[in-house]
Amino acid sequence: MAAHDDSLWDPSKSSVFSGFYKLTLEERRRRVAAVLGLSAEEAGALTGEQGLTDEVANAMVENALGRFSLPLGLGLHLKVNGRDYVVPMVIEEPSVIAAVSFAAKLVAGVGGFQAEADEALMIGQLQVARYGDPWQAVERLHAAKEELLTLARGFLPHLTQRGGGMRELEVRVLPAPEGPEHEPLLVVHLVVDTLEAMGANLVNTLAENMAPHVERITGGRVYLRILSNLADRRLARARCALPEAVLEDFGLPGEDIAEGIVQASRFAQADPYRAATHNKGVMNGIDAVAIATGQDWRAIEAGAHAYAARAGQYGPLSRWKRDGGVLWGELELPLALGTVGGPLKVHPGVQVALRVLGSPKARELACVFAAVGLAQNLAALRALGSVGIQKGHMALHARSVAVSAGARPEAVEALAALLVTEGEVRVERAQEFLTEERVAVGAGEAPTLASLKPPGGE
Ligand code: MEV
Repeated sequence: MAAHDDSLWDPSKSSVFSGFYKLTLEERRRRVAAVLGLSAEEAGALTGEQGLTDEVANAMVENALGRFSLPLGLGLHLKVNGRDYVVPMVIEEPSVIAAVSFAAKLVAGVGGFQAEADEALMIGQLQVARYGDPWQAVERLHAAKEELLTLARGFLPHLTQRGGGMRELEVRVLPAPEGPEHEPLLVVHLVVDTLEAMGANLVNTLAENMAPHVERITGGRVYLRILSNLADRRLARARCALPEAVLEDFGLPGEDIAEGIVQASRFAQADPYRAATHNKGVMNGIDAVAIATGQDWRAIEAGAHAYAARAGQYGPLSRWKRDGGVLWGELELPLALGTVGGPLKVHPGVQVALRVLGSPKARELACVFAAVGLAQNLAALRALGSVGIQKGHMALHARSVAVSAGARPEAVEALAALLVTEGEVRVERAQEFLTEERVAVGAGEAPTLASLKPPGGE
């Protein structure tokens, strides 16, 4: 793997993240800034204190009113292809960052994830109608293929110079959705290597530029000229292998946990109702790092789910099996990511987030995304196939409930613990505690933390 001069993160310092979750937010900020060598400006951009300005927001969207914040945290312990990563993640759901970090640590302990990503091949589609005989139109397009490829390269001079650009032109004839008496669809695919760009703008411009030439050659009329988000030539894959013994937890042997994970995988393979939720878990991790790194996460989502349905039945993006005392997991999905263009340039936090990841190229970034997705999936299935997720979820959810109920920051943990111990993680219950005399943390009094501790707690 190439060295990254622009990296902020030195993996030899990874031990400084042990016990990171136990620190206060301020302590974490100070530690991250020190470990990553962030300037005050960079630290502010990453944490949102000096993020997107009103001016930039106003230039980004129409009718802008302001900015919308979400929590940003760090996924830790991720090792991919022998390299350690600190992963900025933006997500509102509790437990996702903890789950990724937990599973990543487990996998790092046995060598980490292996991952690979294809070239950045994106597909631009042109829909041709009223072309006459379909097979003659196909024939004419095939005969003009070299001319069309040359024209396309001419429309992409900079990309071509950098080693990317037009790769292939394909022609497809699809049955009319209304029935065989209607005109079949004639679809031209322009396959373009977009290198470091996600590629939507490049490909859409190319498709529009090519449309008059396709009309000239086919004699038809081109309607849609647009990128396909089913980026199935731009797949990323991550794998991991865990000796079952390392999975031992919850008082259960590793074999039992591994069996639960494999049963979950079988369930998702057999049933689209389960596969949708299985993939939602995978995307919990991937979306979070996508948002932090300024990616078009709707495009990633669209591609992932379309790919999951490629066999005609919606299925899981990841699979798990047991073999020889080892649990094997793999994930494959399209990942159209960019390290240039779009919000990457304008959003200051995105630039720092990418540097925290070591300023990876798009294909390396895709490897990290795939590993994060597989880590998230492992954590979810490990719990689902054994003790269930609600206990862990509720412990984390209780913190937001305590905040919503109005607890002071210094009392949030203790109130959350009380709610979990009681088994009633509800805002109303938290408010009841806050209004009771023994829990005067919301009323402007000095917090009575001792009284907030769960009965029998330390
Ligand atoms: C919840 O956000 C995600 C899970 O439902 C994923 C899964 O069921 O695999 C826990």
